[in-house]
Amino acid sequence: MSTDILVVGGGGREHTLAWRLARSPSAGRVFVAPGNGGVDADPRLERLDVRDVDIDGILHAAVDLQVGLVVVGPEAPLAEGLADRLAGVGIPCFGPTSAGARLEASKHFAKGFMDRHGIPTARWAAFSALEPALAWLDAVDFPVVVKASGLAAGKGVLIPDGPEETRAALRRVLVDRDFGDAGDEVVLEERLTGPEVSVLAFTDGQRYAMMPPAQDHKRALEGDLGPNTGGMGAYAPAPVATPALLRQIEAEVIAPTLRGLAAEGAPYRGVLYAGVMLTPDGPRVLEFNCRFGDPETQALVPLLDGDLAEIMLACATGALDPARVTWREGSAATVVLASQGYPGPYRKGFPITGVNQADALDGVEVFQAGTRFEGGQLVTSGGRVLAVTGRGATLREALQRAYAGARCIDFEGRTFRRDIGWRALTQEP
Ligand code: AMP
Ligand code: GLY
Repeated sequence: MSTDILVVGGGGREHTLAWRLARSPSAGRVFVAPGNGGVDADPRLERLDVRDVDIDGILHAAVDLQVGLVVVGPEAPLAEGLADRLAGVGIPCFGPTSAGARLEASKHFAKGFMDRHGIPTARWAAFSALEPALAWLDAVDFPVVVKASGLAAGKGVLIPDGPEETRAALRRVLVDRDFGDAGDEVVLEERLTGPEVSVLAFTDGQRYAMMPPAQDHKRALEGDLGPNTGGMGAYAPAPVATPALLRQIEAEVIAPTLRGLAAEGAPYRGVLYAGVMLTPDGPRVLEFNCRFGDPETQALVPLLDGDLAEIMLACATGALDPARVTWREGSAATVVLASQGYPGPYRKGFPITGVNQADALDGVEVFQAGTRFEGGQLVTSGGRVLAVTGRGATLREALQRAYAGARCIDFEGRTFRRDIGWRALTQEP
């Protein structure tokens, strides 16, 4: 029996998920709301003009279309309770309830949760008033990272240098309210060092299946310089997370987090994503996300061997068989093509050429993000425009393919990092 599916979201992550779902043996029709130009261009996908944060609109579409599964890409609708509402009308949802989504939506909650369940993380404190926060800063003898506790579209983390800058960062969150309501509370935490790895797992709340470890590239410029972005590229598997380290992260982070959520009455279904820093003292959780990463998804999903629709429905209905989640040999890498100026202000509406040529290359897949059709022409409509994924026997081969694809595609002001995967390449023979 095939399942009709509604994918919620309009970025590169959602195009990737929808692309793979539409090619899953157990999937029926695949709808995407609101989707993007890549969804419009794929005859196997059907785009709906409903925004991802329009919870009522999504709910009505899911009921009207009688889909058997809703897959939620971004965090905001989950934090707003989309999964809870879908449960109310009996539609399985891949993505946690709002209680589970607090792991991402409230950094204060996440830190307290990790302490309650013995999950390794940086030392921290949370405040909603300036004076006690300043007193805490005076009392600690380690460098500190300043985080808006709420959802801030990935921009709520400040990494100041020295006490002066730290106090200024604190004021930006609590006094200047640079992050709006997300800064009602601030989390101050010890600044750690080490390579970072994204560890994701499919889960039905009880059972889980680990994905290959991935690495994101958050900074805008080569050499990991410049401002933080949503992510400029990713690859998997990341060799820095050795099999032994991955087993340690599974045992110390993923398993106790799922047990802890269930014990606290918030059983969790969907993807659990731990952003982990590999410090000299062992792995430490920097953050949890309650969804797939973007652009990690563009590298991970092409490596999946199993039937994504079947896996997601099993997660959503409490019936995951981890043995059904299998992965291909080799590596995948994805390179994000962005608009000139991103993550700052940028212009939109530039015609995009070369997508079909890139897609036709062996081992190359183009996933679209900030694109749309205007009078039959594909044009840019966002900061991150497309992601080009290459797959190969080695990371080097995957990167060669991704870059060969990236070079086929052009639009005015196109920028991309030429050094995706550099950390791992220095380790690969
Ligand atoms: P987050 O959104 O919490 O993952 O933070 C975004 C980025 O800030 C991370 O990917 C890290 O590079 C950095 N970061 C977050 N927390 C810390 C920390 N405690 N120490 C050092 N860097 C951090
Ligand atoms: N790539 C990081 C994230 O999706 O949060």
